[in-house]
Amino acid sequence: MANIVNFNSEYPIIEKSDELYSRSIGLIPANTQTMAKGPSQYVNGIAPKYLKRGKGSHVWDVDDNEYLDYNMAIGPISLGYCYPKTDYAIINQLFNGITFSMMHPLEVEVAELIREIIPNAESVRFSKSGADVTSAAIRVARAYTGKNKILCCGYHGWHDWYVSTIARNSGIPQVVKDLTFTFNYNDIDSVINSIDDDTAAIILEPVVFDEPKNNFLHNLAELCKEKNILLIFDEMWTGFRMAMGGAQEFFGINPDLATYSKAIANGMPLAVLTGKKEIMDLFNEEVFFFNTFGGEALSLAAAKASIEEMKEKQVINHIQIQGQKLINGINQIIKELEIDFLEIKGYPFRSILNFKDTGGDPLLQKSFVQQEMFKRGILWSGFHNISYSHSDADINYTIKVYEEVLPMLKTVIWENELSSAIKGIPVQPVFRKTSDFNTKPVTK
Ligand SMILES: Cc1ncc(COP(=O)(O)O)c(C=O)c1O
Repeated sequence: MANIVNFNSEYPIIEKSDELYSRSIGLIPANTQTMAKGPSQYVNGIAPKYLKRGKGSHVWDVDDNEYLDYNMAIGPISLGYCYPKTDYAIINQLFNGITFSMMHPLEVEVAELIREIIPNAESVRFSKSGADVTSAAIRVARAYTGKNKILCCGYHGWHDWYVSTIARNSGIPQVVKDLTFTFNYNDIDSVINSIDDDTAAIILEPVVFDEPKNNFLHNLAELCKEKNILLIFDEMWTGFRMAMGGAQEFFGINPDLATYSKAIANGMPLAVLTGKKEIMDLFNEEVFFFNTFGGEALSLAAAKASIEEMKEKQVINHIQIQGQKLINGINQIIKELEIDFLEIKGYPFRSILNFKDTGGDPLLQKSFVQQEMFKRGILWSGFHNISYSHSDADINYTIKVYEEVLPMLKTVIWENELSSAIKGIPVQPVFRKTSDFNTKPVTK
């Protein structure tokens, strides 16, 4: 794959996207199965809505426009779209069958591979989605500790125990809502204040974009030990990107349980729960966690091939190098332009262009940048999920586009023309609030 983006001279033509979208209205509630892929996250009228093909780090929409992708299917594409090693593994397995009436050897083989890679993986279970394994982790934590309440920080999927904490929580009984509360990242007091005698587990994304400060993660692990609370790392984003074993490997912390999905199988739907044997053993008898497709073989074959490829090609190292180059390039532009309301946050494997609210309306600014990115062939939602297929040409091209677009942003803001410069309906807020919601200060 040449990884050459053809410059669009104008905003992309998106007729077929819009036609499909109009057919979905009234038929598919919310239009999308994944909020982050849905129309609310893209400038409506400018950005395409449906993609039909991908290769490497590039994708093509239904109108045949080509884009360099920085969302990578919201995380799963770690090696690249249509990556031969993964795809041949899937095809080979396909010739032998997809899913079976008994267990498949790959369940054992991939579990052994994972045990080698993920520090806390004394035991391993598979499932299909991130929400499956975070929910299984919560259930087994409650069973193990004999306690009920959960403290969380980050996003953990669509199931009741977590969604009870957010504003869009209709359909969830109050008794469930009374059991999960959130704490603020890097704020150990907000954790301490929320713990009570009934706290079973603390689950968090070990990093989102902020780095842990003042030994936050280590202090959390200590606190959990002291209070007989299980520590669960939700490694959906950090696993197989930040390090093969995720944040637990990166920071040298051994959580009681950890959950993985997204990048592990380069796009195939597989989720993994790892943990200490003594806790995970409860799945033998007491705790129920089974489903039809948990041992489905195509995804396991994809995971095995992808993990082997990641090890062989030192993919984490590549992601780190490319991500850092991009961060350096964008930082340089921000510095030269003296735009103090912009900053790059995060780690090389996943960084974000953060619009601080000191610069006016961050969503309008993001919408403007996004529309100009799409015009120049970049599929962009503010962050950069780096894959093995992001080449030097991709990174250099992206920096060049930032060099064009950020001064334009500065100008339209300066001239008070930001709103009118946006040619479609601006993006809506991302549902991803990680602090100051549904916190529960508990007096002990
Ligand atoms: C950190 C984190 N945990 C859990 C989930 C839920 O995963 P899924 O959507 O596969 O159920 C997500 C999804 O984006 C996530 O980002």
